[in-house]
Amino acid sequence: MICLGIETSCDETSVAVWQDGRFVSDLVHSQIPMHSVFGGVVPELASREHLRLLDGLVCSALETAGRPSGQGIDLVAVTRGPGLLGALLVGIAYAKSFALALGVPVIGVNHLHAHLLACDFTAPIEYPALGVLVSGGHTHIYDMPRACEFGLLGRTLDDAAGEAFDKIAKLLNLPYPGGKYIDILARHGTSDPRLFSKPYLHNDNCDFSFSGLKTAVAQYVQKKSFAAIDYSEFDVDAIGQEIKDLCASVNDTIVETLLEKTRRALRLRPEVRTLCLAGGVAANSHLRRKFSAFADDSGLKFLAPAQNYCGDNAAMISHAGVKWAQKGFMSPMDFEAVPRGRNVPDDFIVNPLFKE
Ligand code: KG4
Ligand code: ZN
Repeated sequence: MICLGIETSCDETSVAVWQDGRFVSDLVHSQIPMHSVFGGVVPELASREHLRLLDGLVCSALETAGRPSGQGIDLVAVTRGPGLLGALLVGIAYAKSFALALGVPVIGVNHLHAHLLACDFTAPIEYPALGVLVSGGHTHIYDMPRACEFGLLGRTLDDAAGEAFDKIAKLLNLPYPGGKYIDILARHGTSDPRLFSKPYLHNDNCDFSFSGLKTAVAQYVQKKSFAAIDYSEFDVDAIGQEIKDLCASVNDTIVETLLEKTRRALRLRPEVRTLCLAGGVAANSHLRRKFSAFADDSGLKFLAPAQNYCGDNAAMISHAGVKWAQKGFMSPMDFEAVPRGRNVPDDFIVNPLFKE
């Protein structure tokens, strides 16, 4: 099966062609330089940029795949949500038109499920699995009993882990998005586990709440009145040791909190064989190390996508779309975009032309 995948949920415009279990082209255009001037994603600008870039990226991806006019494409997969509504609409309108023109099915993919299924890029997920999805907008723990089945065990009640990283980085005057910079600085610092308490652990659930941590760091930064960083050029050596230590403590607090809730979820699902870690924050080196060691100690297979496939990409969308298509599903032509904060419904329809 050959699938054209499109991702436009936030600030990456991405297109991929998936053929027989691997991607033959895979393009990601990051809009970060444009949004970083504003310290965060500007939704209207993101939509316009997707509109400006998408057609050119599709043409290049098809060219690389040796199918310049889309000949041989069997399926178009596109991110349906959650994401920025205007940004999603650009990708969805394009995908529907392209599928109509080629006369092939279109499938609207849940972005969060696609992140987790990208663990398959590393090695096949052995089910039952537990999925820890840590991104800029979401922190979810999923029960994954079988391929393409997801049950939510825990979620964030306010800020997602990535959002906490980014807001704390902003307090420290680090470039946007700041998760990556906290990760880098933390490697040069020493964590003090007493500095910040791990948020929202005094309960027996698998949910998260990271907004209190952000406030605690804001108060700490104010008390210490750290010298402002000039980040016109991010330079590790120019940044003081106290900021590096602070980053190590923040990093550790977030990672330990994620780990504790994951332990709880595993107690609810002792049959799990694979621990999957995915989403933009899964690129965090400390998080990967801790989860990998924890999985080893617990006798679990640990999978995370390679760091360059943790962020938003269309390869994961085409790969997930193919999974559902191979089960005989497609989306109706009138499926809608689902903005952040709403659940993406599993309202696929049966593909009448599907042959096993
Ligand atoms: O999955 P993603 O690319 O977009 C969403 O779907 O939200 O995740 C982006 C998030 C941002 O918050 C970014 O700061 C964070 O992933 N991130 C990291 C690292 N690399 C990206 N957070 C911590 N450490 C990193 N190395
Ligand atoms: Zn994402």
